[in-house]
Amino acid sequence: MKFDTPAGQNPIDQLKVVGKATDRIDGKFKTTGTASYAYERHDVVPNQAYGYVLGAGIAKGRVRAIDTAAAKRAPGVLAIVTTLDVPKQGLGVMNVANLFGGDEIQHYHQAIAVVVAETFEQARAAAFLVKVDHAPGAGKFDLAVEAKAAKPVEGGSGEGSGGGGEDRHGDFEGAFGQAPVKLDQTYTTPDESHAMMEPHATIAAWQGDTLTLWTSNQMIAWGHGSVAKILGIPKENVRIDSPYIGGGFGGKLFVRADAVLAALGAKAAGRPVKLALTRPLIINNTTHRPATIQHIRIGATRDGHITAIAHESISGNLQNGRPETAVDQTKLLYAGANRLTAMRLAHLDLPEGNAMRAPGEAPGLMALEMAMDEMAETLGLDPVEFRIRNDTQVDPGKPERPFSHRDLVGCLKRGAETFGWNRRNPTPGQVRDGHWLVGIGMAAGFRNNLLMKSGARVRLDPAGTVTVETDMTDIGTGSYTIIAQTAAEMMGVPLDKVVVRLGDSAFPVSAGSGGQFGANNATAGVYAACVKLREAVAQRLGINSADAVFADGEVRSGNRAVPLGQAANAGELTAEDAIEYGDLSKKQQQSTFAGHFVEVGVDADTAEVRVRRMLAVCAAGRILNPKSARSQVIGGMTMGVGAALMEELAVDTKRGFFANHDLAGYEVPVHADIPHQEVIFLDEVDPQSSPMKAKGVGELGICGVGAAVANAVYNATGVRVRDYPITLDKLL
Ligand code: MOS
Repeated sequence: MKFDTPAGQNPIDQLKVVGKATDRIDGKFKTTGTASYAYERHDVVPNQAYGYVLGAGIAKGRVRAIDTAAAKRAPGVLAIVTTLDVPKQGLGVMNVANLFGGDEIQHYHQAIAVVVAETFEQARAAAFLVKVDHAPGAGKFDLAVEAKAAKPVEGGSGEGSGGGGEDRHGDFEGAFGQAPVKLDQTYTTPDESHAMMEPHATIAAWQGDTLTLWTSNQMIAWGHGSVAKILGIPKENVRIDSPYIGGGFGGKLFVRADAVLAALGAKAAGRPVKLALTRPLIINNTTHRPATIQHIRIGATRDGHITAIAHESISGNLQNGRPETAVDQTKLLYAGANRLTAMRLAHLDLPEGNAMRAPGEAPGLMALEMAMDEMAETLGLDPVEFRIRNDTQVDPGKPERPFSHRDLVGCLKRGAETFGWNRRNPTPGQVRDGHWLVGIGMAAGFRNNLLMKSGARVRLDPAGTVTVETDMTDIGTGSYTIIAQTAAEMMGVPLDKVVVRLGDSAFPVSAGSGGQFGANNATAGVYAACVKLREAVAQRLGINSADAVFADGEVRSGNRAVPLGQAANAGELTAEDAIEYGDLSKKQQQSTFAGHFVEVGVDADTAEVRVRRMLAVCAAGRILNPKSARSQVIGGMTMGVGAALMEELAVDTKRGFFANHDLAGYEVPVHADIPHQEVIFLDEVDPQSSPMKAKGVGELGICGVGAAVANAVYNATGVRVRDYPITLDKLL
């Protein structure tokens, strides 16, 4: 189904099932431990052996030799494959760093061997007997140092892009020079880790030349292609199955070493192999959100209209790695005729930097929205009013391109009213509650809505059960449930008449889970398949499909009413389709918006920061399931608190690795850190986004929260910390 004109009325608009706060249909499996995650799939194939991955002990250089003699003699060992046993693999697929093969070491804990044994303990014990002769080379590990040599990178799309990686509109320097009120500040954000609950894990089994991977992966079709390419086997010979995923946040967008090494280990051992990356290995073996140094300049008239805005960001990565696109939101969030955004990339030999929840906007807004708070104060304007004054309904760099739907102002006004913003004392450090200094802060949230082709198959059996199959994944987001709601709405059946099967490369290719594009696109793909199934049902029953009403498990036409399952009496009915987008999203800018409000207490003696209450007001099109959408947003808000106050990978700039490579040293918020959270969704639809008229919220929740916390800390204390995370030592 081609979607290239705005959606009109359709069966989803009935909102009998869609749009209702609905418990997860997979919830009981998760809470009873019967939803089996990759490492726990004991039943899928017999005779599973255990793999243990060894990572390089240097950050840069070569592996001269690996002596496996002692390890091979250890109890229970079935096979050992070292990186020197196989040619260089994995490059040029979707990973920046090589996953395995060859003698080159590009980053610390890059996989160099897999040991396969009868038990996990035997594999681990033998791995410590592997003797590695490393030939260390010199590496670059310190962003602050390497930033000076950072090179411009493309990322711009504006009229002036192409020159040195800059995106320019108007005359920034001229307008900034003349602006009566100015801000010129630099902000930094640290390297961060996804820290998802479920580690990267895979069970691999070969049957002749055919490989099955039971794994944990957000993007099945990408992973399917990558595995085939890395192992040099045809795609038809690979199956990937990933029905349950214990979080990903971007860390599982791409196949990682667990999948490749389980496959190689299984081949060598002649047995199925199960393998998980241990938590210490995940931090340096896989990807992380790269640190940034962001320079922001804003010029405004005395009455608070932005005339010039510049956002330049420096980040680092391995060769072939990409920048953290922290300037993206600044192209679109506020008005202003004279604009400059630019990114520079430094070469670093740290582990690969890549996408983590709201890549770009999450760290970008931590800087921009603190700058906006500072600018509002300089102007003597209320921070909410300053943002409202600079709202834009068009892409400010290309005024001929409107937003499909934009209600940032609605989010800010509703948020201010609900949170009691008018009770805030604008002078910092004035409000006390016992030994707590109390402050309130806010920030705007922004994240784009991406349209991606997405397919699904739906089947109808004589009992009236509708089965949906798509390679879409549920990374804890609620995909199962919103897909079931969509099929139930379309086919006129209750939720318990819908079966949803996800995450299998044997199913039609979906958008997958990433970039908060999963919900809108995957359900739109199911919508498309259901439109076809409705036609097939009508045809079987001899009903004109335009007159058919699908409701209460029946198909009705005129005064005829037939049980839906009857259409499948002569054999199961199957329909498959995909939603495909025309150039609607090129003519219109599609984005999601939020207003974040936070109250903090800062201990007047110790500078300990406690978040006291939080509110997010979101404008993100139709909300398909307010319950699971709220969970997404509060999860994002929680991650935003982590980013503001605690999360930081500590770089050992001498040896080139992240030193706090576990959940004891890499701190994330726990329940005790998170107080009352409230989420409000503005009642809206966006007919430009898809037949679902929905958008994503999975990343919107984190976008802006960090700055709202930081601005609240400033309001509480009068101390402006521009170097995240805001730990107490920086406040004293
Ligand atoms: Mo997301 S960072 O595209 O999972």
